[in-house]
Amino acid sequence: MSEDTPQGTIRRREGCTSATDAGQSGCLLEEWFEPLPRLSELILARHDRPLVTVSYAQSVDGSIATRNREQLRLSSHQSMVLTHRIRAACDAVVIGIKTLLVDDPLLTVRLIEGTSPQPIVLDSKLRIPLQARLLNRTDRRCWLACTDNHVSERVGEVQSRGAEVIRCRRDLRGMVDLSDLLYQLGRRGIRNIMVEGGSQVITSFIKARLVDQMIITIAPCLVGGLPVLDRPAAGNGSLLGFNPISYQSCGPDIVIWAQPRWQDP
Ligand SMILES: NC(=O)c1ccc[n+]([C@@H]2O[C@H](COP(=O)([O-])OP(=O)(O)OC[C@H]3O[C@@H](n4cnc5c(N)ncnc54)[C@H](OP(=O)(O)O)[C@@H]3O)[C@@H](O)[C@H]2O)c1
Repeated sequence: MSEDTPQGTIRRREGCTSATDAGQSGCLLEEWFEPLPRLSELILARHDRPLVTVSYAQSVDGSIATRNREQLRLSSHQSMVLTHRIRAACDAVVIGIKTLLVDDPLLTVRLIEGTSPQPIVLDSKLRIPLQARLLNRTDRRCWLACTDNHVSERVGEVQSRGAEVIRCRRDLRGMVDLSDLLYQLGRRGIRNIMVEGGSQVITSFIKARLVDQMIITIAPCLVGGLPVLDRPAAGNGSLLGFNPISYQSCGPDIVIWAQPRWQDP
């Protein structure tokens, strides 16, 4: 992304004050959607992996769910429309198994016209319940990323429910190694992915520096719930900043479009 966007840019824009606006041109979001295919090809050629966009909704205090990890409806309708536009623009959408266990999402595009992305669940031990709604979808087979030591009768069970299993290397914490997963996704023709959460998955992508851009919806409320990051974003007490960064109103919410600015390790 950085090759195509001026450095040190901060932009603010009024806009997207209605659901219709979120689906129309004239907003900053067009500046994100239009170059996405070209940037995805660039990242694939340069890094041998799909472009990664992390996108989630948080309260003003940075909560993405309740403290007990119960689902919270934070986004306004207008922001949900935007989320569905981002989904439709991406080849795949990635969530963690705990988000599936709590939310049981479909991950389809429903609020606008568009193609639903390939659903992918990070599920090292294949804990997915066989009645999960993602396994009932007829339009797309769910892809489950598990670890390579995980060969069990669960593989056959989830495959019999239509899921496709992607075996990945283990990372230092015994979870799915994200670099290996992204490499395999690139080989499967996935050019860009949207990471929707939850907290552990977002943190892992950031810690691995495998994030090209972030789209953060901030809802005007306080929760005191589950923080978006479960570990520090950067080591030694330093901050992970964004550059460039844009702000936009979307109904009652604020949407931040930003690229992480990685510091030297
Ligand atoms: N506001 C929002 O936008 C938003 C969006 C999504 C979710 N949420 C909320 O987030 C909460 C769930 O978040 P969470 O942090 O508890 O769980 P999570 O991030 O959804 O899932 C974490 C689990 O994914 C698996 N995993 C496999 N490989 C991983 C890797 N490399 N890095 C991280 N995890 C990996 C691990 O389980 P295994 O070891 O068993 O594989 C891990 O425990 C829910 O309350 C949900 O409602 C909010």
